[in-house]
Amino acid sequence: MEKKGTILSGMRPTGKLHLGHLIGVLNNWRNLQQEYNCIFEIADWHALTTKYDQTENIKNDIREMVIDWISAGIDPEESTIFVQSDVPEIAELNLLLSMIVSVSRLERNPTYKEQVQELGVKGSIPFGLLEYPVLQAADILIHKADTVPVGEDQLPHIEITREIARRFNHLYEEIFPEPEPKLGQVPKLLGLDGRKMSKSYGNAIYLADGSTEIADKVKQMVTDPERIRLKDPGNPEVCSVYDYHQLFNCEEIEELAQGCSTAEIGCMDCKQKLADLLTDYLVDVHQKREELKADPELIDQILAEGASKARQTAQQTLKEVKEAMNLVYS
Ligand code: TRP
Ligand code: SF4
Repeated sequence: MEKKGTILSGMRPTGKLHLGHLIGVLNNWRNLQQEYNCIFEIADWHALTTKYDQTENIKNDIREMVIDWISAGIDPEESTIFVQSDVPEIAELNLLLSMIVSVSRLERNPTYKEQVQELGVKGSIPFGLLEYPVLQAADILIHKADTVPVGEDQLPHIEITREIARRFNHLYEEIFPEPEPKLGQVPKLLGLDGRKMSKSYGNAIYLADGSTEIADKVKQMVTDPERIRLKDPGNPEVCSVYDYHQLFNCEEIEELAQGCSTAEIGCMDCKQKLADLLTDYLVDVHQKREELKADPELIDQILAEGASKARQTAQQTLKEVKEAMNLVYS
């Protein structure tokens, strides 16, 4: 089948991924693979913008993340999977693009402003953090991607990418498409404590979790706070266990809602059902994970092939860019 266009997306290497990544991102990516030429990048340089002083786990985090991607159905035969720093052409394009974007434009980036606030003291803001969206633009533009699946938080970065592409095309030559962001539907999936699921909150269920861990974690999940005793009727609308049931296709969803609001089913049983569903849901992912874990050379090979494919395109684009900018001297 003729593919529609080029998709590029990326994640910073955070190690093992959780159900929030699976439902919110990876399932989307997986489904896009048939329709588009897909390129998925592990953005290790981007990780440095906040973790430049904690690099000891980065190698392992990259591997764990790749294993999770592939286990979730990202297919290295179908798509390109590569590590950002394996493609130094990105850094070169980043430098060239940094000339055509203003500091004040980057200072206006809302994600930058948020991080500055979080980091506190103004004096210790790394330059790389300000420059983050330029590097992201280089990631996207070097592959001439036309579609970028991202979460809402990334929209400002895609907007900056579009501006840089326009500016470049206007100043030199029409080389870059203006990429469109593509928002997936992100179903509600909260962490065990009812906050956003995140590694740093310690409230996540990981793709790597086995049935015992899943059952233990589901037991900790917050339920309708008004439902204290078994005979109290519950309100499934305010219970994250129920949100999960909805997502994981529980065929008994109506029955559960009914059972909860009439106090016929207890939270313990309801949670046990959910734990079983999640365990089933992750069976294939786990099997694939085990296979990949047992064959570290395969991961090396996948990343080497991905890097080589990505570099070919990157070198071609960079050549066009340098020609357009009159930077080819011999
Ligand atoms: N900044 C993105 C995030 O934190 C990750 C990323 C890096 C990315 N390069 C990209 C996403 C290119 C889309 C396209 O989620
Ligand atoms: Fe939530 Fe289920 Fe308990 Fe109702 S029975 S409050 S849906 S865990």
